[in-house]
Amino acid sequence: MADKKLWGGRFEAGLEKWVEEFGASIAFDQKMAKYDIQGSLAHVTMLGKTGIIESAEADTIKAGLEELLKEYEAGQLVFDISNEDIHMNMESLLTEKIGSVAGKLHTARSRNDQVATDMHLYLKDKLLEVVEKLANLRQVLVDLAEENVYTIMPGYTHLQHAQPISFGHHLMAYYNMFTRDSERFEFNMKHADLSPLGAAALAGTTFPIDRQLTSDMMGFAKPYSNSLDAVSDRDFILEFLSNASILMMHMSRICEEIINWCSNEFQFVTLSDTFSTGSSIMPQKKNPDMAELIRGKSGRVYGNLIGLLTVMKSLPLAYNKDLQEDKEGMFDTAETITVAIDILAGMLKTMTVNQEHMAESTEKDFSNATELADYLASKGLPFREAHEVVGKLVLECTKAGYYLQDVPFSRYQEISDLIEEDIYLALQSKTAVERRDSLGGTGFKQVLWQIEEAKNSF
Ligand code: ARG
Repeated sequence: MADKKLWGGRFEAGLEKWVEEFGASIAFDQKMAKYDIQGSLAHVTMLGKTGIIESAEADTIKAGLEELLKEYEAGQLVFDISNEDIHMNMESLLTEKIGSVAGKLHTARSRNDQVATDMHLYLKDKLLEVVEKLANLRQVLVDLAEENVYTIMPGYTHLQHAQPISFGHHLMAYYNMFTRDSERFEFNMKHADLSPLGAAALAGTTFPIDRQLTSDMMGFAKPYSNSLDAVSDRDFILEFLSNASILMMHMSRICEEIINWCSNEFQFVTLSDTFSTGSSIMPQKKNPDMAELIRGKSGRVYGNLIGLLTVMKSLPLAYNKDLQEDKEGMFDTAETITVAIDILAGMLKTMTVNQEHMAESTEKDFSNATELADYLASKGLPFREAHEVVGKLVLECTKAGYYLQDVPFSRYQEISDLIEEDIYLALQSKTAVERRDSLGGTGFKQVLWQIEEAKNSF
């Protein structure tokens, strides 16, 4: 017979090693070790206070758990796969330490509410960390935007030059995206901040437990109000994975832009050497690997979301072992996004913006065509007609090989007597940006206002 299991009473034969390995989660759920101890400390304190166990017994168990915590922090705990998961490993280590009184810890508790409690505690910490890291990233974007309010760049649609914009405006768009991400993670907290402890296996318990007390001791807002829901709910993780997926999508979009911007074709930014890598064969290469990796890692985060959604689909209430598959994707996602946010912030903070080159790229294009159409429209020509006139002129310029700002004034006069000398000023990129002063537009005043708003929100 294999090693004696904590649940071994009704069994005559043990699991074969390879079957045991298939069922075990200790390889990964040991990441929750300190939360498992925290939950056990709250539980045993409550067992003592309510008189469910003797208070001297509770004290012995507490002292044992505290020692285990110290040993865990010192990297001294050794876990064993035959104890399946973190919960049974801890109980077995506690038994080694304090003897059979350790067996009283599991009174009025099941691994089902225990594992859910651990995950809530783990995720609450991660949510705070993510929100904090996002605040740093948002700050970096605001600072960079402030330095680039007056930096002109081509605004794109369909990756074609569309209208000139302020680079600060472009950056503030991402600031807004990351602010919404942060708000989503903050809202996520509402559903992570519930205590499942005391739901026991599924139906509650006959012992006179105090769920409010354990919930308060662990710092939760309140206990779950339905025991079946408490042990079956993984919505808080799904929300995290879905919020993380949206965040990764945003990070992937800005990384894609950075990858474009530092290419030979754009040359809008130069990445710092500290965030770039070389090629093993091409000596000239300086690659935006970190941006590409963030873009690539969005795949695994989406995968984790789809993975858990699929695990949860069709699961009957309450606990099923399928739920053990909820952890690795959560850990992986938390670890992936926390480092990716820092890398992105570092990359943005250290990159050089080639302001002149960016601005120049709006000089040799037709991104001021809307200016000419608006100019005519503002003098009374119906916009549709103005659009047609300008479109024809763009075609004429394209054939002749010059731009709207190069068209001689005599030609402009032939086109329309509404056009005066001030047209050349109107066609300048800076004027085009400055005049887009509508609320939330790229006009410098609007960008300064956005930055001010953002600064006040921290
Ligand atoms: N390792 C298990 C998990 O992660 C803990 C809960 C096990 N409960 C049970 N009844 N088998 O889901």
